[in-house]
Amino acid sequence: IRFWVVVPAAGSARRMGAAVPKQYLSLAGRTVIEWSLAPFLAHARTAGIVVALSPGDQHWAQTTLAGDAKVATTIGGTERMDSVLAGLRALQDRAAPDDWVLVHDAARPCLSATDLDRLLNELQDDAVGGLLAAPVVDTLKRADEDGRVSQTVARDKLWRALTPQMFRHVVLQRALESAQTNGVAVTDEAQAVEALGLQPKLVAGDADNIKITLPEDLPRAERILRSRSA
Ligand code: CTP
Ligand code: MG
Repeated sequence: IRFWVVVPAAGSARRMGAAVPKQYLSLAGRTVIEWSLAPFLAHARTAGIVVALSPGDQHWAQTTLAGDAKVATTIGGTERMDSVLAGLRALQDRAAPDDWVLVHDAARPCLSATDLDRLLNELQDDAVGGLLAAPVVDTLKRADEDGRVSQTVARDKLWRALTPQMFRHVVLQRALESAQTNGVAVTDEAQAVEALGLQPKLVAGDADNIKITLPEDLPRAERILRSRSA
């Protein structure tokens, strides 16, 4: 099977608090976004990649990705969901409705080739699609207004949603458009697909597939990437 890739990269990385948006920070000799796209560029079945950039992006043109024939860009939107939708629309003339689309965060540089292949293998014949996810390992507490424990949440059957998330183009576009129309703020693709009454499949992925969110995530990602090449 061939598949398309949509990469939301239009965020402003407020929690990171760096001068440069986190997707363009340098990490083990490349930028974060170059690492994030690498497993897809290396994959024989990647039909094409669309990256959603913020309107004033000053950094994309300086990456090695800018001249790559497999990579196209579009302009993202206010929320992550808007950026993903922009990417899907940019694919509309090229992708068939039933083609698979993998959505992967620009800020997730540690996706392994093994996890990408596991996702593809487990979902390529699936009716719905799904996502990489990692089982929750900590005990979870729900807080009340005063920061005291109101409840312990059982962690069995709880997963953390990672990316890539893999759905058919027509399904994903319908799901995100319907979330937008209904004013539902979704934080991942699966949530929008769930709202259609479908049940995305959880595919166990490596917890090392972290999203760069806070400054301390950068050295952690660096250790993960360096341990692989060692
Ligand atoms: N993203 C996007 N368009 C937006 C918001 C986010 O394309 N309007 C992208 C980010 O660039 C990132 C991914 O979605 O690759 C995950 O979002 P997040 O980690 O929240 O990144 P930011 O929104 O940039 O960071 P923050 O929330 O700290 O501001
Ligand atoms: Mg954000």
